[in-house]
Amino acid sequence: MSNRKGIFAGDDPFAITRRWLDEASAREPSDPNAAALATVDETGMPNLRVILVKAIEDDAVVFFTNYESRKGREIAVHPKVALNFHWKSLERQVRIRGRVERETPQASDAYYRSRALGSRIGAWASRQSQPLASKAALLKAVARAQAEHGLNPSRPPFWGGFRVTPLEFEFWAAGEFRLHDRFRWERASPGADWKISRLNP
Ligand SMILES: Cc1cc2nc3c(=O)[nH]c(=O)nc-3n(C[C@H](O)[C@H](O)[C@H](O)COP(=O)(O)O)c2cc1C
Repeated sequence: MSNRKGIFAGDDPFAITRRWLDEASAREPSDPNAAALATVDETGMPNLRVILVKAIEDDAVVFFTNYESRKGREIAVHPKVALNFHWKSLERQVRIRGRVERETPQASDAYYRSRALGSRIGAWASRQSQPLASKAALLKAVARAQAEHGLNPSRPPFWGGFRVTPLEFEFWAAGEFRLHDRFRWERASPGADWKISRLNP
């Protein structure tokens, strides 16, 4: 299969991504699970921001956000995204493209409960991506959320996870003289067989 050895070895792109993330976790100075997340707006204009990937499951990649944020609204209209991990310390990247849907309320609740209280309150206080008059206004919203929701806040209905089901992965590793190694994994639909091709750098 196009000489897929060493760091590229394996039959499961989710397992390879987890393995690379583990290796990055030992090397990166911070946030090895940070990935750029691309969406498109209603005119087709792309949008890109960094999020933290919280799980690479057997068939999905999960992150959490505010459903009413710009990304949340864009995903609601166009439920397809691209993700890109770039690990400078490893000189590798993983590209992922796929469909996206909301995480189950139960799984979002479980993750929300695992967060620090300040972050749980912050999720209530921030109308993510909306204009904000001042930092003081945000701190006031935090105090209000604290008073209202106390020490055991429930998950805000506008905050939770998204599950990306990839239809494509690309594993990239830097090579000498820019002769990089690239392998693309593609499938027509979730559950279908993967087609793997080596790409020119
Ligand atoms: C390292 C890093 C990690 C981030 N993780 C998240 C995250 O997990 N969820 C999130 O909503 N925003 C996260 N952000 C903030 C986003 O980049 C972005 O500012 C925010 O989600 C609003 O994006 P939007 O207006 O396109 O919706 C992170 C930013 C950085 C730099």
